[in-house]
Amino acid sequence: MKILIATKKPFASEAVEKIKEIVQNAGYEFALLEKYTEQSELVDAVKDVNALIVRSDKITREVIEAAGELKIVVRAGAGYDNIDLTTATEKGIVVMNTPGQNSNAVAELALGLMVYAARGFYNGKPGTELKGKTLGIQAYGHVGSLVAKIAKNGFGMSVSAFDPFIPAEKIEADGVKVYNSVEELYANNRYISLHIPANEQTKNSINYDLLNKMPRDATLLNTARKEVVDEDSLIKIMEERDDFKYVSDIAPDNAELLKEKFPGRVYFTPKKMGAQTAEANINAGIAAANQIVNYFEKGDVTFQVNK
Ligand code: 3PG
Repeated sequence: MKILIATKKPFASEAVEKIKEIVQNAGYEFALLEKYTEQSELVDAVKDVNALIVRSDKITREVIEAAGELKIVVRAGAGYDNIDLTTATEKGIVVMNTPGQNSNAVAELALGLMVYAARGFYNGKPGTELKGKTLGIQAYGHVGSLVAKIAKNGFGMSVSAFDPFIPAEKIEADGVKVYNSVEELYANNRYISLHIPANEQTKNSINYDLLNKMPRDATLLNTARKEVVDEDSLIKIMEERDDFKYVSDIAPDNAELLKEKFPGRVYFTPKKMGAQTAEANINAGIAAANQIVNYFEKGDVTFQVNK
């Protein structure tokens, strides 16, 4: 068995060492492709591998078709929108993610970005505090629920959430108010933090009508996926409302235009870095390696996403 880690954005070296140990202890061959710049390098590297560990790397039809021996792909992380699930399923390849393993890192960054925005991106002028302000969490999964807890218990924010897939009682048990519609969530919160995946239902779903429901001095915070925000709507709302801020860990397609047109009201990290901590890399990397071993040794498909 040959297991390849293919990460354009590399794991911390400690994570790579730990993955290697798990793979070799199971008697498998370990291979590493890091910081590649061309998709063709990935296509070449997968030719004889049986399992792949990736992050946001694009596992396209071309990659899958080049990997004739591939049996399993594990996305070390949460979102698997980078993987062509249709082709993988067609070829009988199991795709998994490692839910929850990198969530704390993303949640901490979300709070950090919120403080950064509230303090005028550290411009030295009087800002505002998070204490007592309203925060709406869109999707109460691993990251959303952690952001809610830190914001509420650590910063004293008033937190609410909208998530049609999670029972209200579960959210309320954390002292978080539940809204039954996304419109109500936007209408009642000065901060909105996005934690939805990118899929056909969610792409461009954060649109003008929704954004315009937000109260004065609104900040939209995105540590999820750029595709969920409709950029034309974003530009329109920012043109119309000089009290509106957008902060994101994933630079939008129109990043330069937004920075030029709305100085002091937008911020984008130089590179998506929510999950880029040693701890998140180690947790997600170890989980991915163990899931591969458990799949080959015991047929365990617990975290399969293309069942
Ligand atoms: C995820 O979906 O797990 C996060 O967006 C992190 O992505 P990354 O592994 O590319 O940093």
